[in-house]
Amino acid sequence: MNYRELAVQAVEAKKKAYAKYSNFHVGAALLTKSGKVYEGANIENSSYSLTICAERTAAFSAILHGEKDFEAIAIAGDSESFTPPCGACRQVLLELCGENLDVVLVDPNSNIKTFKLKELIPFSFSEENLNK
Ligand code: THU
Repeated sequence: MNYRELAVQAVEAKKKAYAKYSNFHVGAALLTKSGKVYEGANIENSSYSLTICAERTAAFSAILHGEKDFEAIAIAGDSESFTPPCGACRQVLLELCGENLDVVLVDPNSNIKTFKLKELIPFSFSEENLNK
């Protein structure tokens, strides 16, 4: 699977968003090294702070299926331009997918822009910092 195909899956996943409060739909498609794709979408709540982002639903789904090695995540949102992952999702992706994950952003015209996760979360906190 190439990153253009992964981007198409993120746009498809966006249709599954439960975003009745913000009306801002986000889809994610997380690609494992073995070639499997796990979709995610944002799921909101009337108690707003319980909302979870698309990137995290994708990552949690993959982890629950026993996945450990990840290649890339594509993210498509309702922004006029690219929708970058929020800070909380950067931290969670770092924990579960590693700093070498490719983050593929998709805009409404199907342009893509790719970053390494470590570029998006420099000087990060991780398990190494817990070794006092
Ligand atoms: N959202 C995501 O799903 N991913 C992000 O990285 C940014 C924000 C969702 C959360 C909320 O449901 C809506 O977008 C508006 O913030």
